[in-house]
Amino acid sequence: MSQLIEKTVLITGAGIGIGRSTAKAFARAGYRVIVTDVLKDAGAALAGEIESEGGAAEFHSLDVTSTDQTNALVATVEDRHGALDCVVANAGIAIKVPLEELTDERWDETFDVDLKGMIRIVRAAAPKMRAAGKGSIVCLSSIMGVAYGWDEHVHYSAAKSGVVGLVRGLAVELAASGVRVNGVAPGYIRTAQALSKENSLGPEGLEAAADFIPMGRVGEPEDIADVILFLASTAARYMTGQVVTVDGGLLVGRY
Ligand SMILES: NC(=O)c1ccc[n+]([C@@H]2O[C@H](COP(=O)([O-])OP(=O)(O)OC[C@H]3O[C@@H](n4cnc5c(N)ncnc54)[C@H](O)[C@@H]3O)[C@@H](O)[C@H]2O)c1
Repeated sequence: MSQLIEKTVLITGAGIGIGRSTAKAFARAGYRVIVTDVLKDAGAALAGEIESEGGAAEFHSLDVTSTDQTNALVATVEDRHGALDCVVANAGIAIKVPLEELTDERWDETFDVDLKGMIRIVRAAAPKMRAAGKGSIVCLSSIMGVAYGWDEHVHYSAAKSGVVGLVRGLAVELAASGVRVNGVAPGYIRTAQALSKENSLGPEGLEAAADFIPMGRVGEPEDIADVILFLASTAARYMTGQVVTVDGGLLVGRY
């Protein structure tokens, strides 16, 4: 049975992984979900799945490296549904590049998605959220941005650290208008990104990581999605400018 939809969330990179689980969690919580991604088949299938489960969702193709596409999409969504209630800046890439191969182009490729891609979507959505006097923005950082250094991923670590500064600056600038901005720093989460042997831990490396995670298991995308949903909710109404680590105790347990 379809429910009364009063709130709208836009999620970048929502076709798979953490973004996908986040879309499903927000749909279950009664949000209309604007699923966006460069992965058109996965994004469209997810929107269909949410609708078939009685939720409300739309898929829109969006490459977060394009300012024009981002601005146009936000304008289209706002025309249809008004100011966004929540933006989840989730799209990200983690490509292994040793220092000797880390050219300006490779550096920029990661920053364009992982950091500039976030400001593009926030910058487009903020004016109407501000005017509405409410809303929540959640950006995905990483334990590699808040605590660890990651060899052969200097560009990724730097971009994810940049997300912390982005969250803090935006939080202060938007606080008076009632718009809150927070981040989540996931630990090791079972998604395509972490499962990539070429660019990250790979399946075996991920399983081995469970041995030194105090909670004894790798995270699932749903573990992150639920915290993002909490940050968007009124339960987090007095929180802004924070980046919450969600890692099964990894950072506090390794010494
Ligand atoms: N999986 C982990 O262990 C982990 C840990 C820390 C942080 N993160 C962060 O969480 C976020 C989600 O990661 P994930 O693990 O679900 O990864 P994933 O690879 O499963 O999903 C990433 C999503 O981003 C999309 N994307 C990539 N480039 C894009 C672009 N230019 N425009 C729009 N969308 C684009 C992809 O199509 C995909 O849907 C990322 O920001 C990632 O860096 C993940």
